[in-house]
Amino acid sequence: MIHTPHNLQGIRVALTGGTSGLGLALMDELVTRGARVAFVARDQRRVAAVAAARPKVAGIVGDVSNKDDIYPLAMQISGLLGGVDVLVNNASALGPVPLALLADTECEDFETALATNLLGPFRLTRALLGSLSAAARERGGAVVLNVSSDAAIEPYPGWGAYGASKSGLRHLSRIWDKELASQRVRVLSLDPGDMDTPLHALAASGDDPTTLKRPADAAREFADAIEAALHALRDQAHLEGVRA
Ligand SMILES: NC(=O)c1ccc[n+]([C@@H]2O[C@H](COP(=O)([O-])OP(=O)(O)OC[C@H]3O[C@@H](n4cnc5c(N)ncnc54)[C@H](OP(=O)(O)O)[C@@H]3O)[C@@H](O)[C@H]2O)c1
Repeated sequence: MIHTPHNLQGIRVALTGGTSGLGLALMDELVTRGARVAFVARDQRRVAAVAAARPKVAGIVGDVSNKDDIYPLAMQISGLLGGVDVLVNNASALGPVPLALLADTECEDFETALATNLLGPFRLTRALLGSLSAAARERGGAVVLNVSSDAAIEPYPGWGAYGASKSGLRHLSRIWDKELASQRVRVLSLDPGDMDTPLHALAASGDDPTTLKRPADAAREFADAIEAALHALRDQAHLEGVRA
């Protein structure tokens, strides 16, 4: 099969957190490669401004940490794109800053981190699973990319709520990847590295931004990973089709 580098022509992507940092950079990278993107964020003005400046994207206002938002979001995403080939769970909650030790972390703040970083991706993936599976059947493969962090693995003091939620998301991704393999839906969990974004500035205000990764560089790596996964799934579907 001929591999076309940097080609996501016609791929339908749902992306959470598209108005800032990595999400915004990834959206632009995916669109440059030919994808159509529907993105979600909470701030209505920023959603409208980002969408207005980009003809090939649709903006949706919603909160992934809110259970009641998930099915309306999934319906809007599927309706706007006419199906979903790729879901990127990127939106994230850090918690109040300065970051607190676990003993000083309010239960409500812990719940918010879990609701945004773990339950939100779980619910949205479940709500879009029918669309993703249909895309995999009809087009050879589908991909869920959950944005992780080194805090999912390293026990950094002060990063308890965020780290526990990202660790849960990483493990959930690995299990779901195995469970969905037979449907040709891949579930990836990738750490973008320390980037110069508003979230990082909040968490580590002392860091020199010039030493941090640019979100556009992480976005290119993530778009490459999505492309590679889709190509591998389609090659596999092609081989299975040949054998059948
Ligand atoms: N920056 C780093 O150094 C770094 C390192 C490792 C991992 N990461 C991960 O990379 C991802 C992107 O981080 P970033 O630094 O780009 O963050 P960011 O600049 O703060 O952007 C976060 C985006 O998510 C949206 N968002 C936040 N909460 C949401 C919610 N409940 N529902 C819907 N949208 C929501 C925000 O818009 P609204 O506020 O309008 O909703 C915004 O568009 C996150 O998963 C983060 O954990 C970042």
